[in-house]
Amino acid sequence: MNVLVTGGAGYIGSHVVLALLDAGHSVVVIDDLSTGCSDNLPSDIPFFHVDIRDEQALRACFEKHSIDAIIHLAAKKAVGESMKHPELYFSVNVEGTRVLAQEARRAGVKTFVFSSSAAVYGNPSESPVTEHTPLAPESVYGVTKKMGEELLLWFGFTLVNLRYFNVVGYDPSGRITVPEKQPQNLFPILCETGVGVRERVQIFGTDYDTRDGTCERDYVHVTDLATAHVRALSLDESITLNLGIGRALSVRECVYAAQEVFGEFAVEDAPRRPGDPAAYYANPSRAQNVLGWEAQITDPVEMITTMKPLYE
Ligand code: UFG
Repeated sequence: MNVLVTGGAGYIGSHVVLALLDAGHSVVVIDDLSTGCSDNLPSDIPFFHVDIRDEQALRACFEKHSIDAIIHLAAKKAVGESMKHPELYFSVNVEGTRVLAQEARRAGVKTFVFSSSAAVYGNPSESPVTEHTPLAPESVYGVTKKMGEELLLWFGFTLVNLRYFNVVGYDPSGRITVPEKQPQNLFPILCETGVGVRERVQIFGTDYDTRDGTCERDYVHVTDLATAHVRALSLDESITLNLGIGRALSVRECVYAAQEVFGEFAVEDAPRRPGDPAAYYANPSRAQNVLGWEAQITDPVEMITTMKPLYE
């Protein structure tokens, strides 16, 4: 297949591109490089330095390349920033998806794989979270992802809608060399602290009603996630799939795993971060059944080990 990957120079996108090429697909990438890095892309694939809201530029891309399917990852993704700048999130994540959908339909593309998020469940009413768990996003980011899901369905595409849980790690074979800039998430912060770029890690909340009082999340390795995108291309009906490993780790367990990889570093108990749900994890059985997909990297030490070389 000839697959267009929007956001293909980003953290998840660059791994999806590698997985597509490994599986023998052709790839075209669109990225505005606002957070992505072209150094993480093979130099011989067609690359468009384009904002997905730019109708003319998208049209030129579709005129130049015959696209069989689109994996749409281009988006703003910081929950906190989305609360401060809702206009930016509605513009890029919703209006950008609208323009992309319009130009894709014009070009005759039928299939989308969409990068959605567990953020559409908000503070999930049950765990494990299934695809039937009620949607109740609690951030602008989560709302824009939910709107993106609906928009693509209403445009009539065959939509494989992938709801990611907490995505971590880097390509274990070392083909990605530039880490995310200004990371906001726990695992990259652990790595930066492990190599001394940061002085200490703060644990946001130690009084939750969880195993050890810290928040619990379902961390899934980006390489496993990328595999799911490739398999999603073979589906011919619209479906929503949760992508997680089906198990939760606490923040403290992640800290211990990072200290096993990097050695001791300073850790500080800190107040809760507003808006954080205490605990949730995925029920990934639908993805297992439909895609024959199961996460291969499930040990946090192994996950962090794949990140270490990018921070040294
Ligand atoms: N945490 C800390 N200290 C830090 C950073 C994070 O204790 O310095 C804690 C958080 O409080 C949370 C956990 O680590 O309990 C994970 O936090 P992240 O910021 O890494 O991830 P979130 O669970 O908040 O959100 C992530 C993505 C969202 C996505 C969600 C889906 O950032 O976009 O996973 O599960 F929606």
